[in-house]
Amino acid sequence: MARAKSQKSGDATKAALATASAGAVAASRPVDAAPQPEDVRFDKALRPRSFDDYVGQTKHKENLRVFVEAARRRGEALDHLLLSGPPGLGKTTLAQILAFEMGVTLHMTTGPVVEHKGALAGLLTKLAPRDILFIDEIHRMPPAVEESLYLAMDEFRIDVMMGEAAFAQSVQIPVEPFTLVGATTRTGMLTAPLFSRFGHNVRLDFYPVEDLAKIVVRSAGLLQTEIDPAAAVEIATRARGTPRVANRLLRRVRDFAEVLGTGKADLAIVKRACERLDIDAAGFDEMDRRLLRIIIEDYDGGPVGVETIAAAMSEPRDTVEDVYEPYLLQQGYLGRTPRGRIATRRAYEHLGIEQVSKSDTSDKKSKESGKLFD
Ligand SMILES: Nc1ncnc2c1ncn2[C@@H]1O[C@H](COP(=O)(O)OP(=O)(O)O)[C@@H](O)[C@H]1O
Ligand SMILES: [Mg+2]
Repeated sequence: MARAKSQKSGDATKAALATASAGAVAASRPVDAAPQPEDVRFDKALRPRSFDDYVGQTKHKENLRVFVEAARRRGEALDHLLLSGPPGLGKTTLAQILAFEMGVTLHMTTGPVVEHKGALAGLLTKLAPRDILFIDEIHRMPPAVEESLYLAMDEFRIDVMMGEAAFAQSVQIPVEPFTLVGATTRTGMLTAPLFSRFGHNVRLDFYPVEDLAKIVVRSAGLLQTEIDPAAAVEIATRARGTPRVANRLLRRVRDFAEVLGTGKADLAIVKRACERLDIDAAGFDEMDRRLLRIIIEDYDGGPVGVETIAAAMSEPRDTVEDVYEPYLLQQGYLGRTPRGRIATRRAYEHLGIEQVSKSDTSDKKSKESGKLFD
């Protein structure tokens, strides 16, 4: 019994450790921004390789182009760089592009995998001059490892232990000048000393529909799927501002187009596919609507703590905060208050629920009638 329990909580910890696990929790969720196993295969084909292929995020892209050009001219490594933002917006892609544009090798790892100082030393000593070390989920690096990273970032040196037991002593050895590119879904969880060591913080935001439509058209071309411009816009509208979701929806639409239609993705096929997958006009699926319903129906519109929401949804808190909430917050369906989350009028309208004004619990409604999503 106890064993089964610890096994379960072990699983929960594992789930909390990897963003990818969000995909495992709700494996069939097509609008999940976290990577799912099948994404890996397509990622290779669809991932932009250069700045020119990378759609949108113009301001960041232009700045990075300048940094790359300047570093190249000086023959130096790029400054350490932090990439932050919700999952699926192109952080890993940008790290790969930076290495490509710099003409150097990218070494990839994730925070929890670098378990001890020795593992970090192993990575750092393998780097060639100007190489990029990419640490995904850098906010999940063990504190002791993080501390030994400081010296490497500041002075390109590392502390290693030499000798055995009583004769062991710490010596510093040099490493090649390198660039640390860190990625995080939570800038707030980075310690101040680590955060301050990055020369630049690229904060990726959700993509506007026009950019996502461009990504869909580009991906359709790579997948050799014919697509109507209106269909691309419709997919983009339902992609929760996230390229990974747009690409995944496109792949599902392609399945429907091939099996139920002529193979061409048109507006009707997109709508039909989304209906079948239970994705509404705003790009929300059952889980998004459930989150909003919990706040509205069970907690009277909020405020309600994120811990409570997570428990009600049977999801790890991290998943709720990293995967579900950011888009709902950005789009104004959810509000954040010191006492917890609240559902906004937009959320009520989207679900077609009438919002009863709290200050006046009589029949007076703050809105005459809720509008159903189409
Ligand atoms: N700006 C972009 N232009 C085109 N495709 C993109 C862009 N950003 C992301 N993608 C696509 O979305 C997928 C997910 O991006 P990724 O870099 O893995 O996101 P993150 O690391 O932030 O979770 C990639 O495989 C890529 O195909
Ligand atoms: Mg990534």
